[in-house]
Amino acid sequence: MKKSLNFFFIKIRDFLLISFCCTFFYLCLPKELNAFEKDLGENLFKHNCSACHINGGNIIRRSKNLKISSLKRNGIDNPEAIAKIARQGIGIMSGYEDVLGDNGDQLVANWVWEQAQKAWVQE
Ligand code: HEC
Repeated sequence: MKKSLNFFFIKIRDFLLISFCCTFFYLCLPKELNAFEKDLGENLFKHNCSACHINGGNIIRRSKNLKISSLKRNGIDNPEAIAKIARQGIGIMSGYEDVLGDNGDQLVANWVWEQAQKAWVQE
């Protein structure tokens, strides 16, 4: 009887340990990935967009900048809309699909969107 009770507790302990490890892993992983993707997005922006959109501005058409008020005014209210512009261009801005590479449009768009939320203030 005592032996089977012990066995029962060992099972519970193992179960808790495994759950703890899984939770820990789960909590760590997305954060790491996120940081990595953020860096990629930032780099893509520096290489492909910042020449015209330095600090989220627009040196050619001032009113069409990447600040949240301008984006919203122009109906760009999610990262996907930015990704589409990055790929295909808009108005006199040409598209950058070829240079952004696989998924680059999403990465740069997510980064731009996040900066817009933070008013382009760097941490
Ligand atoms: C050669 C200069 C140039 C580069 C490089 C450039 N853009 Fe633009 N961008 C513009 C101009 C000009 C406009 C305004 C286009 C228009 O409406 O005629 C614009 C508009 C935009 C808009 C719409 C902004 C608004 O408020 O309506 C977004 C979003 C945008 N660009 C994102 C990007 C991203 C992302 C990149 C990099 C992949 C990029 N741009 C690279 C010149 C540039």
